[in-house]
Amino acid sequence: MNILIIGGGGREHALARAISTSQKCTQLYAAPGNPGISQFATCLESSSDNPQAIIQECQKRKIELVVIGPEVPLVSGLADALRNHNIAAFGPSAAAAKLEGSKYFARDFCKRYHIPQPAYERFTDIQKAKEYARLIGPQSVIKADGLAAGKGVVVCNTTKQAFDAIDMMLEGGFGDASQTILVEACITGPELSAFALVDGEDVIWLASARDHKRAFDGNEGPNTGGMGAASPSPDETDSLRKDILENILKPTAKGMVADGTPYTGILYAGLMLTDEGPQVIEFNCRFGDPEAQTILPRLESDLLEIIISHCNQKQQEAQIIFSPDIAITVIMANKGYPGSYQPDSIIKQLDTLSLESDRFIYHSGTRRNEQGDIIASGGRVLSITATAKTYREAREKAYDTVSQIKWENGFYRTDIGVF
Ligand code: GLY
Repeated sequence: MNILIIGGGGREHALARAISTSQKCTQLYAAPGNPGISQFATCLESSSDNPQAIIQECQKRKIELVVIGPEVPLVSGLADALRNHNIAAFGPSAAAAKLEGSKYFARDFCKRYHIPQPAYERFTDIQKAKEYARLIGPQSVIKADGLAAGKGVVVCNTTKQAFDAIDMMLEGGFGDASQTILVEACITGPELSAFALVDGEDVIWLASARDHKRAFDGNEGPNTGGMGAASPSPDETDSLRKDILENILKPTAKGMVADGTPYTGILYAGLMLTDEGPQVIEFNCRFGDPEAQTILPRLESDLLEIIISHCNQKQQEAQIIFSPDIAITVIMANKGYPGSYQPDSIIKQLDTLSLESDRFIYHSGTRRNEQGDIIASGGRVLSITATAKTYREAREKAYDTVSQIKWENGFYRTDIGVF
């Protein structure tokens, strides 16, 4: 089978690596891919912003299955466009991806189906938003309704911070994405990312992870897309998994079916483990990044076979086995990220590093220059993963690999997976 992966980050590199090992994979393509992905796949220039171009590539190259990594093409309906042309797509319809595409939609959905979440209100008016922020107290979360490249959430510790975030967003800080905002009560506890494979009402638990969202050690500094992850989450227990499945994931899948917009694909619930139990921070309609780089190395079964069974509405027949081993991923980012950074520094010796089978380097934001050097082109640049029997051992291996990477403009947290 010929397969196309949409996306060009670390998550898609991890997907490409896993899919390329399957006996069922004949030719693997990626659009746009990256220098790491190009070891496993032919990278195409077609943009995922242009569904027609993707469909034409599929027809020309006899691609039968498209695995869509990022949220933007899912929210804008790439999976629907492909299915309308009889090309299988792994990922939800635009109607179902609204769970990620509109934070208000997700909150209203949870309210209607009694899925645990914090208090919130939706606003388009600055004064009314500030009145509610004052009412819920100094600790609040201000969220842009639409997609804002992972930057549309401000966690506030003072009313002034909340007011500033409200002004920034409703004055157009994220363009159309923040014309509407949510003001939410701040809930506290450890965070857990839960991943399930969903086909209508059928929900299969895949894995959990703990993301590390702040830029610096000790959970200091600004929020990022994720500076590293550990899987499984140190908080995962049998009873917590059951609680999340019964009270969050299954009611979500059931509610989407009841609303006439059945969900298919990876459902990623970002949860806060509060004293009252797990509550939904947000839903995402895809694998997390960097969680995919942490979870997929633990998957012992054939990812492509799982995806094919799911697309044939037979996901219960798929063998899905994860190793009990621990995986840790450390993100190396450009100095300055998530703010501005100097682009285009060279990462030396990356191609010549030889890695043991329990260590992985995924390219998150790289390109090759005309001389063939690997250039750091994005904010998050490399995802370094290692697996081992314990968090400590996995961490030591991951950081040992990080120490072998010669990149002066890079930085990373030193406490990923320290629990
Ligand atoms: N790690 C957070 C995300 O993928 O959205």
